[in-house]
Amino acid sequence: MAETNYLTELVGVFGFPVAENPTGVMQNAAFRALGLRWLYLNFEVAPQQLGDALRGLRATRNFRGVNLTIPHKVAVLPYLDEIAPSAQVIGAVNTVRRDGDRLIGENTDGKGFMRALGDDADIDALGCSAVVLGAGGAARAIAVELALAGARTITVVNRSRDRGEALATLIQRQTPAQARYAAWTPAYQVPKDSDLLVNATSIGLFPEVDTLPDIDFSSITPGMVVCDVIPNPPRTPFLRRAAEQGANTLDGLGMLVYQGAIAFQMWSGYNAPVEVMHQALAAEFNP
Ligand SMILES: NC(=O)c1ccc[n+]([C@@H]2O[C@H](COP(=O)([O-])OP(=O)(O)OC[C@H]3O[C@@H](n4cnc5c(N)ncnc54)[C@H](OP(=O)(O)O)[C@@H]3O)[C@@H](O)[C@H]2O)c1
Repeated sequence: MAETNYLTELVGVFGFPVAENPTGVMQNAAFRALGLRWLYLNFEVAPQQLGDALRGLRATRNFRGVNLTIPHKVAVLPYLDEIAPSAQVIGAVNTVRRDGDRLIGENTDGKGFMRALGDDADIDALGCSAVVLGAGGAARAIAVELALAGARTITVVNRSRDRGEALATLIQRQTPAQARYAAWTPAYQVPKDSDLLVNATSIGLFPEVDTLPDIDFSSITPGMVVCDVIPNPPRTPFLRRAAEQGANTLDGLGMLVYQGAIAFQMWSGYNAPVEVMHQALAAEFNP
């Protein structure tokens, strides 16, 4: 008689609100594609109950890890046994994995971006000059990973000066890269010697799909790689305008898939079926 095993391995996301988080679509497609009895669920966890939820995760052996989203990415830090080095610099964790009884925090947002840059645009960050629009969570993760991967200079352009300066100071102090803050004076002129321009603001996110970061698009040149973190819709007006200037472009859907693929591998130990995940999310965003 075949051995019976009714155990399902569980992962998911803790957030508040969390109903609209689409990550489960790609993670569950990946589990199905590999024939794994794993399940990804959205868990609505109020801020004051994050500690209880993490104790539940610790206590449940087949609960293998979680993503964290708003408002838990920083609040989770004190509950973890270990925090990966780049997540420590970023100061936020978006993925927790169980290693025996230990909970280990990682940040896969910037790593997903780096993988998109390397695998899809064939770009090595070593020695590059990058301009990052924004200084929130996504910008911090991207700027720190670029700096740790050997970017020469990072210019942080942000609407509010205090957040922008804080990110530039963090990179300058905690990584080998040179960083500076540039005030966002419309229309922002991208410096001629930039290799990489990243929109890491929330401008262009659904439903505000027609809005554009206020930059002078004529300052974008064909040698530049221009990236957007907005995953839905992936072909943003920002990327379209950059492509019209001759730039090589990279969309936020790729970054979202790769950050999920890295989490998938951390939790399950299996290489993620990236193409399956990409197709599942693309179909979800554009049915
Ligand atoms: N593709 C992916 O894998 C991925 C992963 C993570 C996040 N994201 C996306 O990244 C975006 C940012 O997320 P986040 O967590 O970094 O958000 P956040 O922490 O709230 O930061 C938002 C950033 O956008 C700037 N901003 C917002 N509206 C602006 C406007 N009208 N003009 C100028 N600047 C504006 C903010 O500037 P101030 O500081 O001046 O407010 C801040 O720098 C979201 O759209 C999210 O969906 C994508």
